Amino acid sequence: MDDRILDEGKQQHEEHLEMSLRPEYLNQYIGQQTLKNNLNVFIEAARIREEALDHVILHGPPGLGKTTLSNIIANELGVNIRTTSGPAIERAGDLAAILSSLEMGDVLFIDEIHRLPRAVEEILYSAMEDFFLDVVIGKGEEARSIRIDLPPFTLVGATTRFGSLSAPLRDRFGVQLRLEYYDVDSLVTIVNRTADIFEVAIDDDSAMELARRSRGTPRIANRLLRRVRDFSIVKSEPSITLDTTNHALKVLEVDPSGLDPIDHKIMNTILNTYGGGPVGLETVAVSIGEEVVTLLDVYEPYLIQQGFLERTPRGRKATAKSYDYFNGKCQMDIFRNEE
Ligand SMILES: Nc1ncnc2c1ncn2[C@@H]1O[C@H](COP(=O)(O)OP(=O)(O)OP(=O)(O)O)[C@@H](O)[C@H]1O
Ligand SMILES: [Mg+2]
Repeated sequence: MDDRILDEGKQQHEEHLEMSLRPEYLNQYIGQQTLKNNLNVFIEAARIREEALDHVILHGPPGLGKTTLSNIIANELGVNIRTTSGPAIERAGDLAAILSSLEMGDVLFIDEIHRLPRAVEEILYSAMEDFFLDVVIGKGEEARSIRIDLPPFTLVGATTRFGSLSAPLRDRFGVQLRLEYYDVDSLVTIVNRTADIFEVAIDDDSAMELARRSRGTPRIANRLLRRVRDFSIVKSEPSITLDTTNHALKVLEVDPSGLDPIDHKIMNTILNTYGGGPVGLETVAVSIGEEVVTLLDVYEPYLIQQGFLERTPRGRKATAKSYDYFNGKCQMDIFRNEE
């Protein structure tokens, strides 16, 4: 019980830190150049036409900046943002209440939009398309439907699971933006920006090492930087050094490619228990005692992007690169050896 409370406290603290790190305008948002260019045009056009921006869906793995972008969109448009999430809207009435509180041009941000209950999703269709709601009031014979007109607004949805959205919902988003994993240069910039905000100095080599080992993900880069900073403070270093960075990352069980022990378990299971595959992801999940959704959302996309894993119609397959990496120089015991 105590542990849980501690965890919740810690989580709130981390969320607070994350908020203080969020860029507020598009020109402060690092990387994702193609996405930014496109979004900039759409925002500019909406501003010139003095119309609400078309509905936007942001999709991609966790921690790449979807929530950050939704706030940036509202800031750039100079409108209010209402924030909620799919699982938080339980009944159609909850959504109706939120929608009818919007003002002309406002942004409604629905995080994890793939988790909206079906009945709620259905009333969203007319709201998105024609800006009205059909609400049923009363019960049985007394029941009647009334129509509520809404001001034009912009729905911004975020999801890690674009494929789980129903076609009617997906098709109602005029702007569909996919966030990609960040390249190392962008992550170096993000690490340096965060270090500035934390008022901590960091060597170029260390920033580069953190960027390389952050799984292309700003949230992970920021989190690793915080931990590395702790090690550096304890050593009273004037600036974070590469030695300290490498030591901290080893203690944190982040391997030279940014993979963690779960990545290694996944790949070892596929390579050694299932002869390299193909094997179903559910089978892998059961073997290593992790949730399938975690593997789907968090682990698999990065392993595929790095060329360690392949998706085939018959299941997941290890690539030639993964044989070299996991059965060669980089076995699990890199976590145990001290240099
Ligand atoms: N382009 C960027 N430039 C600078 N910092 C960024 C950028 N993208 C994300 N970040 C930082 O990374 C952290 C995570 O971003 P954010 O919360 O927006 O991710 P998310 O995609 O919404 O994740 P989730 O899917 O888990 O909700 C934030 O603290 C933010 O400051
Ligand atoms: Mg988010």
